[in-house]
Amino acid sequence: MPDIAFVKPALPRSGALVLPLAEEAPLAGLAKQADEATGGAISRGLEAAKFKGRKGQATTLWAPGAGLSKVVAIGLGKAAELMATGAEAAGGATAGAIAQEREAMVAADGLAPALAASLAMGVALKSYRFDRYRTMEKEEDKPKIERVAVAVADTAKAKAAFAPLQAVADGVFLTRDLVSEPPNVLTPTDCADRCRALAKLGVEVEILGPKEMKKLGFGALLGVAQGSAQEPRMVVMKWMGAPKGKKGKPLAFIGKGVTFDTGGISIKPAGGMEDMKWDMAGAGTVIGLMAALAGRKAKADVVGIVGLVENMPSGTAQRPGDVVTSASGQTIEVINTDAEGRLVLADVIHYCIEKFDPRFMVDLATLTGAIIIALGHEHAGLFSNDDTLASRIEAAGRATGETAWRMPLGDAYDKQMKSDIADMKNVGGRPGGSITAAQFIQRFVQGRPWAHLDIAGTAWSSKDTATTPKGATAYGVRMLDRLVAEHYEG
Ligand code: BES
Ligand code: MN
Ligand code: ZN
Repeated sequence: MPDIAFVKPALPRSGALVLPLAEEAPLAGLAKQADEATGGAISRGLEAAKFKGRKGQATTLWAPGAGLSKVVAIGLGKAAELMATGAEAAGGATAGAIAQEREAMVAADGLAPALAASLAMGVALKSYRFDRYRTMEKEEDKPKIERVAVAVADTAKAKAAFAPLQAVADGVFLTRDLVSEPPNVLTPTDCADRCRALAKLGVEVEILGPKEMKKLGFGALLGVAQGSAQEPRMVVMKWMGAPKGKKGKPLAFIGKGVTFDTGGISIKPAGGMEDMKWDMAGAGTVIGLMAALAGRKAKADVVGIVGLVENMPSGTAQRPGDVVTSASGQTIEVINTDAEGRLVLADVIHYCIEKFDPRFMVDLATLTGAIIIALGHEHAGLFSNDDTLASRIEAAGRATGETAWRMPLGDAYDKQMKSDIADMKNVGGRPGGSITAAQFIQRFVQGRPWAHLDIAGTAWSSKDTATTPKGATAYGVRMLDRLVAEHYEG
């Protein structure tokens, strides 16, 4: 991430200058100064390029004079309609346009401090790269940007608005790193070890291994793990930020962390199986969320718990037909070893309730291929037994651009899980596959306020979007940070 600073408006003598411009608005402030310094080259260039400032429009003017290497005009659309997500998208476009410069200035002096901060957030988010394993990239292809100066009228206000966003962007980057790592590197033990780094932000981190889980009766999670040479882990992260006198029940976020999902004995086809390295995205999101909340010192008590396992076929793997006993005591007939995420969540959710008596629980999981059929890649599936919690999550999603669509629950779906020999089967057949998966999880929440986000369609993107390079999206970090900020602090 480049270093982002807010500065008083003053024309740079070199480098790139980015002009975020509203639709049909005359050049003003720093943009006007730049136009004058270049003898009108900017207004002439924009005119010739038919640049109108429409949303998504962008034009580059090379070497317009006054020492500038280039001027990039980015359309904001109608000034009165500009919102945080629009400013972020302009920031994303900015990041792309300045990647090859060492320094750039953004003339945000016409924007309110909060929108300038959102634009800076867009620059930060879009500048993400996962290049740990590239050793042969040509120098000229590597991004060069080191410092972005955002020129604003009120630097103090913009800085204050950006500080929490910077912490959230750091959380997003952590999630993207975890989700992008290959599965031979990011094993359950490696992922758990990386959680320890959150201690420096003030997060209490506790790691449980198979011995402790056996004692806790985690038969469902351990059944998934038993086919792998990699030991499972459960990581409990606590951020206790609520001020004294305002302590109540903690909020709880729970993540599915299958570091690789082969399907187990119900093995998946070879084509595309490499995608199953990101079957730990729910856990990755919870870890990044905890980093974001702690990084901005959120005034709330929050626990994040992730169940980390690898789902492998082997001589020790569980079989279709096995019956396992979950920590709650409920027995499960494992019909399909590829429906493993719900088995992991069942035990972690039960533990969360017994240990923390949370105010609510939100779980995130790349749980079903069926949710991609239902909603594509535009919305996560949202399932909840609590209308208030659900509508708060939906609203936080809209505000951050990480949208979710509420799906139904109901007894009729629940019946699809009836087993002949145990309390339930782990699959409910093809009809409503995402719903029966959510019903399964609901059997472990003891009627407490709970929401489940099926992020199988949103955790990974095969193409660049406004503020996210293709790959791991960290979907949910910003949404849930917002949920906490809006309703559960102070
Ligand atoms: N991790 C998968 C779901 C998934 C699919 C995530 C595609 C991301 C992209 C999950 O463990 C799984 O295998 N689900 C099965 C459930 C079925 C066996 C009931 C599925 O969706 O096919
Ligand atoms: Mn699976
Ligand atoms: Zn899975």
